Amino acid sequence: MSLENELLSVTCTAPVNIALIKYWGKRDEEKILPLNPSLSITLDVDDLRTKTTVVASKHFDRDRLWLNGKEHDISSKRMQTCITKLRQGAGDLRSDDGTLLIAKEEWKHYRFHIISENNFPTAAGLASSASGLACFVYSISQLLCFKETFPGELTTIARQGSGSACRSLLGGFVLWECGIAPDGTDSIAKQMDTGDKWKHLRIVILIVNDQQKKTSSTAGMQTSVQTSDLLKFRSKEVVPVQLSRMRDAIKEEDFTTLATITMQESNQFHACCLDTFPPIFYLTDVSKEIIQFVHDYNAKCGGTFVAYTFDAGPNAVLLTQDENLDKLVASLYQRFGFFPVTREGVTSSVCESPQSDQIIRSIVTKIGEGPRVLAKSIDHEESLATKDGKPKFTI
Ligand code: DP6
Repeated sequence: MSLENELLSVTCTAPVNIALIKYWGKRDEEKILPLNPSLSITLDVDDLRTKTTVVASKHFDRDRLWLNGKEHDISSKRMQTCITKLRQGAGDLRSDDGTLLIAKEEWKHYRFHIISENNFPTAAGLASSASGLACFVYSISQLLCFKETFPGELTTIARQGSGSACRSLLGGFVLWECGIAPDGTDSIAKQMDTGDKWKHLRIVILIVNDQQKKTSSTAGMQTSVQTSDLLKFRSKEVVPVQLSRMRDAIKEEDFTTLATITMQESNQFHACCLDTFPPIFYLTDVSKEIIQFVHDYNAKCGGTFVAYTFDAGPNAVLLTQDENLDKLVASLYQRFGFFPVTREGVTSSVCESPQSDQIIRSIVTKIGEGPRVLAKSIDHEESLATKDGKPKFTI
């Protein structure tokens, strides 16, 4: 059987992850090696995900990339590093009966069309780089029959696309180890806990109105590394202790401790941003009002029922338990006015006329699994490519 003129294709999804112990600062800019380990929770791909179709052919003249229907430059150093390393680790493609279809040495003659889209609006300000780069790396690895030479190697490749992307290759609670090796081979992401005992956890993403021009994570953390003494102290003295406490809390199903550390971590990350010179402000007045709301809510309820965490932007991610969700949403409405809530794929009826000019939209999700292969053929309904390997939808 000859595949000479065939278009090879695979379609995969990868999840979004939210850091509970934050990654902020690199010790090696080139290899994207972090100053400290970080820990994240993987969100359910049924609610939020990147989907990517990769098509390979010997007849394409170059690698090309489309994101959300628009062609993008694929020549960035980070993406090129990922593609080169994936090509180096390619394996033989065999049919089900073991017949060799493409020998690993042959892959260097193939070029890729990579077509990717998010099911959440990029304008919503949700970090799309982690799921996007994870899906990019995972899909190409599937197509090339990538063989890891050591456990976690694929996560080291995703890490070089964007640090936080390595954590989107796994489900549950994911630890990105700092590592000590200068070549970065021990800076890998690992599943710390499947999250099976945390199915009742609800993650509420609050998208707030944002007119600000943001400093990218990459640029922001670089300035923090150069100027913030607090960041040095945090990465050496604080993170190891918080990580070990968080590990115990996850194991012992201790929501109160998990929630408390999550909030402290978020606050310390933003304190490091303020300690950066010149300072970086990601939180807006609305973000700060949400922080105050959570503390007031917990005080009123007499315990720790909700936690917040914020990344390099003003949107809040709240953690709570299923039994508390309705009460929490009702309280949020009371304080911030109505806003649409998407829950298990269904958007609440208030969607048509949001009355809050502070929180514009919200998504409720839960803990989820890692990337998935949806289709191995270009004709499959899940495929984002036409029969000639171009995007089905362009803008
Ligand atoms: C605040 O992974 O986007 O979300 O490695 O430069 O691509 P690069 O940065 P990125 O940084 C994420 C920072 C964060 C915290 C986190 O996700 O741990």
